[in-house]
Amino acid sequence: MRVSRTPERGLFVTGTDTGVGKTFVACALLRGLRARGLNVGAMKPVETGVGPEGPLDAIALRSAAGASDALDEVCPERFALPAAPSVAAAHEGRSVDLARIEAAFGALAQRHDLVIVEGAGGVLVPLSDTLDMAGLASHLELPVLLVARAALGTVNHTRLSLEALERRDLVLAGVVLSHGGHTIDAAEARNLEGLRRELGPRMIGEIPPLRSGGVPEAGAIEFGALLRALAHDPSARAADPHRHLL
Ligand SMILES: Nc1ncnc2c1ncn2[C@@H]1O[C@H](COP(=O)(O)OP(=O)(O)O)[C@@H](O)[C@H]1O
Ligand SMILES: [Mg+2]
Repeated sequence: MRVSRTPERGLFVTGTDTGVGKTFVACALLRGLRARGLNVGAMKPVETGVGPEGPLDAIALRSAAGASDALDEVCPERFALPAAPSVAAAHEGRSVDLARIEAAFGALAQRHDLVIVEGAGGVLVPLSDTLDMAGLASHLELPVLLVARAALGTVNHTRLSLEALERRDLVLAGVVLSHGGHTIDAAEARNLEGLRRELGPRMIGEIPPLRSGGVPEAGAIEFGALLRALAHDPSARAADPHRHLL
């Protein structure tokens, strides 16, 4: 894990797959960071599968952030088809507008100490023929937090994702293991022991299976390690009268 020296503007939350708990973990991060005195913003730059009720991930993230930012900034690009962004956009004869995403992120980053950005799907999910989620994290110059599913298959998915991030020279802020709703069996438990050992200090959290509506315990994520990776020290920032100029 590389630790940067200047405070990061945010964190890009990606996952080993879709449905692994990215939104759940991002909401837990937002609540935990707020509790530590940070002014946080949330963003879901591209949401697909958006129905009449609006972009549900973006709405959940904004609510966890306690932010009042316009939904057009929190989620500038929305598509109805529940597919990869490039596919969902092409289905509507449109394309994902990177400039629009960058402008929205810039506005949010001005207003908040940290912006938690949730990607769609996993690391190499395409937004266009030339841009994928890893590329978007690079464009926004954000370190990455990888959410890994606590089930069989996760060792392969986690290693693949970490290799892809490393090859693209992205900074890894950490890995959070998310158990989802199901209880793991003995083989999966052994499997996870191996993964924890392999990840070592890169693993900065583990969310146990929670009942519907449950909120992770405060200790489920190592916020100290995360804030160090992001070069944010809330106590120093609170004492700094110029902190909003950062
Ligand atoms: N630790 C957990 N305990 C119980 N349910 C969880 C947990 N993590 C995720 N879930 C549930 O699993 C589903 C997928 O999680 P979500 O955060 O939406 O994934 P993603 O954002 O990666 O697509 C959601 O219904 C979510 O509420
Ligand atoms: Mg999500």
